[in-house]
Amino acid sequence: MRFHSLLSFLTASAGIWSGVEAVQVNPLPAPRSITWGNSGPQRVAGRLELNAPYNEIVYGAWRRASHAITRLRWTPAATEAPIATFEPFPTGAAKRSGRSGGLKEVNLKVEDYKAELQHSVDESYTLEIKDGSSSIDITAKTLWGALHAFTTLQQIIISDDKGGLIVEQPVAIKDSPLYPYRGIMVDTGRNFISVKKILEQLDGMALSKLNVLHWHIDDSQSWPVEMKSFPQMTKDAYSPHEIYSQRDIRDVIDYARDRAIRVVPEVDMPGHAASGWQQIDKDIVACEDSWWSNDEWPLHTAVQPNPGQLDIINNKTYEVVEKVYDELSSIFPDNFFHVGGDEIHPNCYNFSKYVRDWFADDNSRNYHDLFQYWVDKATPIFNNTKSRRLVMWEDVAIGANAAHNIPKDIIFQAWNGGLTNIKNLTAMGHDVIVSSADFFYLDCGFGGWVGNDPRYNELANPDPDTPNFNYLGPGGSWCAPYKTWQRIYNYDFTTNLTDTEKKHVIGVTAPLWAEQVDDVVISSKIWPRAAALAELVWSGNRDAKGKKRTTEMTQRILNFREYLLANGVAAAPLMPKYCRQHPHACDLNYDQDSIK
Ligand SMILES: *[C@@H]1O[C@H](CO)[C@@H](O)[C@H](O)[C@H]1NC(C)=O
Ligand SMILES: *[C@@H]1O[C@H](CO)[C@@H](O)[C@H](O)[C@H]1NC(C)=O
Ligand SMILES: *[C@@H]1O[C@H](CO)[C@@H](O)[C@H](O)[C@H]1NC(C)=O
Ligand SMILES: *[C@@H]1O[C@H](CO)[C@@H](O)[C@H](O)[C@H]1NC(C)=O
Ligand SMILES: *[C@@H]1O[C@H](CO)[C@@H](O)[C@H](O)[C@H]1NC(C)=O
Repeated sequence: MRFHSLLSFLTASAGIWSGVEAVQVNPLPAPRSITWGNSGPQRVAGRLELNAPYNEIVYGAWRRASHAITRLRWTPAATEAPIATFEPFPTGAAKRSGRSGGLKEVNLKVEDYKAELQHSVDESYTLEIKDGSSSIDITAKTLWGALHAFTTLQQIIISDDKGGLIVEQPVAIKDSPLYPYRGIMVDTGRNFISVKKILEQLDGMALSKLNVLHWHIDDSQSWPVEMKSFPQMTKDAYSPHEIYSQRDIRDVIDYARDRAIRVVPEVDMPGHAASGWQQIDKDIVACEDSWWSNDEWPLHTAVQPNPGQLDIINNKTYEVVEKVYDELSSIFPDNFFHVGGDEIHPNCYNFSKYVRDWFADDNSRNYHDLFQYWVDKATPIFNNTKSRRLVMWEDVAIGANAAHNIPKDIIFQAWNGGLTNIKNLTAMGHDVIVSSADFFYLDCGFGGWVGNDPRYNELANPDPDTPNFNYLGPGGSWCAPYKTWQRIYNYDFTTNLTDTEKKHVIGVTAPLWAEQVDDVVISSKIWPRAAALAELVWSGNRDAKGKKRTTEMTQRILNFREYLLANGVAAAPLMPKYCRQHPHACDLNYDQDSIK
C-alpha cells in the first residue's frame, strides 16, 4: 500500500484497478466501472470540440461543461497534499506531465435523441480515452446519459499546474445509475425560496447526477403559486415578491430539464392545507382558525402551526381541487405528481359540520373510512392523463388513519419507521421512494422552532420522556439528531427485502423541510450531504468486493464540496481543512475495515 498513490487507492474499488500510479481524479458519484490506463496523463490541446448532430440541450450542456473545464482549471482539492506516512495508509503524491499530441475533440454518439425525460429513461453512458488518441469518445442511449457523461468529464479533466489541462491517465468508464429516481425535496411553503436559489440546487444536482427535484410547493403556512383559476390564492403568499409566477415555474422546469433533472411537484392535500385554499372558500377548509397545540388536548388540531385541512366531505372541495390540480398539472410535464396525504389530524375535522354529520349518519364510520372517502373521490381527479403516476406519503397506506383500499399503482414515499415501513409498503406491492427520516431528512437536529417552549428552560435533569429535548442532549427537533453525510451514505435501505420487494424500491429522496430554511441556509443544509445520497443511489456505498467504501468516499466528498463551491453552490464544510489536506489523519478508527 505504502508506495501507491493515494488516488489509486481511492479509485481502486470503483472498478478494475490497473495497479499504476498517478491517478489524480476522483469524480463524484464514483462511476460504476472505471478503468485507468497506464501510459501517463493525456494533455488537452486547446478547446475541446464537440462532434455530434446539433441538439440544443446537448450543446447547451456541453457549453457549460466546457466552460467549467477551461474556467476552473480544476485542481483536485483533496488529493495532492502531504499524506500521513504511517501504515496502513497509502502515501505519495502523483507526478504530472501531459503527453504530447493532445486531446482535441469529443465524439458523441447518442442512439435515441427523442427519449423523453421521464421515469426510467435510460441514463447510461460510456466514456473512453484511448491511449494516444486525440479524441474523447462518449456513447449514450439517450441524450440524458450524454449529459451525465459531461459532468463526469468535467471532473476528470484537471489542471497540470502549468496552465494546461490534462486527463490523468487514459480512462474507460461504463456508467449507469442503480436507481432511476434520485431526488432532493425543497419546501417552499414554510419559507419562500427564490428562483435563483432553486436553480443553485439544480446546479449541484446536475453535478452529482441527482435527477429529481421534488418541489413541495405550498403548505399550510403559505401559498406561493400564481393561479389563473383562483388568483386570490396568492393573498396567502408571504408577500407580492414571494410568489412564483407560472413563468418562473416553467423557467425552473426548463433549467432542470436542461440538466437531465425532472421536477415532480407536490401539492399537499388534504392535510397541510389552509393557505390559499381558505381564500377560495373558507367552507372547504376545516379548523384553520383553531388552536393547534397539544398542551390543551381538546384543542389539538395539527402537528405544527398553523392548522387547516381540506374538508373531505364537502362536495365543493373536489370542485376546487380539480381546478387547481388541472391547472398545475398542465404546467408540470412530469408523469409523476405528488399529492401529499401526510399527517391527517382527526381532531381538525371536529370543526367541520360536513364531517360531523357524515359520522352521525352512520356510527360505524371511523377515520379510516374518512380517509378512504378522500382516496376514492380525489384519486380519479388526480389521475387525469393516461401516463399519470401518483405519489403519496406513506400515511395514506400505513398511517394511524390509513385508508383501506388503495390503487396498487400509487407510489408511496416512506418517511417513518426506517426499514420496517419500506418492507411493509413494498410487501403490499407498491413502488416506494425511500425518504426515511432517521437517515435522509436534512432538516433534523437544528432544535425545536416553536415559541413559548418550556422544554428549553431546563437547568438540570430533563424529562426522560422527551430525550430529544435534553439540555445538553441531542437537540430538540422531532427527528434529531442531525444526519451526517456518513449516516446518509451508509443507509442500506433494502436490507431484508425479498427480491420482489427490492424491485419496488424505485429510489430515494432527501427532504429538506423549510421551517428553519430560507435562501440564506438552503444550500449549506443540502450540500454536500446530498452528494452522499447521490453516490449511494448511483453506484452504491460498497466496492466491488462488497466492502463499505465510506472511508474512501471521505476524500471524494471533501473534494466535491470544493468543486460545488467553485461552481457557485454554497455547500457547507464537513471537516477542518486539515483533514482534506491530510487524508486519513482525521479518521476515528485506525482500523480501515471498521465500517461494515
Ligand atoms: C374532537 O372530538 C373528539 C371526539 O369527540 C374529542 O375527543 C376531541 O377532544 C375533539 N377535539 C377537538 C380539537 O375538538
Ligand atoms: C355531495 O354530492 C352528492 C351527489 O354527488 C350528494 O348525494 C350529497 O348529498 C352531496 N353532499 C353534500 C354534503 O352536499
Ligand atoms: C389511473 O387510471 C388508469 C387507467 O387510465 C388505471 O389503470 C390506474 O389504475 C389509475 N390509477 C389510479 C391511482 O387511480
Ligand atoms: C403493514 O403495516 C400495517 C400496520 O400499519 C399492518 O397491518 C400490515 O400487516 C403490515 N403489512 C405488511 C405486509 O407488513
Ligand atoms: C434482518 O433480518 C434478520 C433476520 O430476521 C434480523 O436478525 C436482522 O435484525 C434484520 N436486520 C435489520 C437491519 O433489521
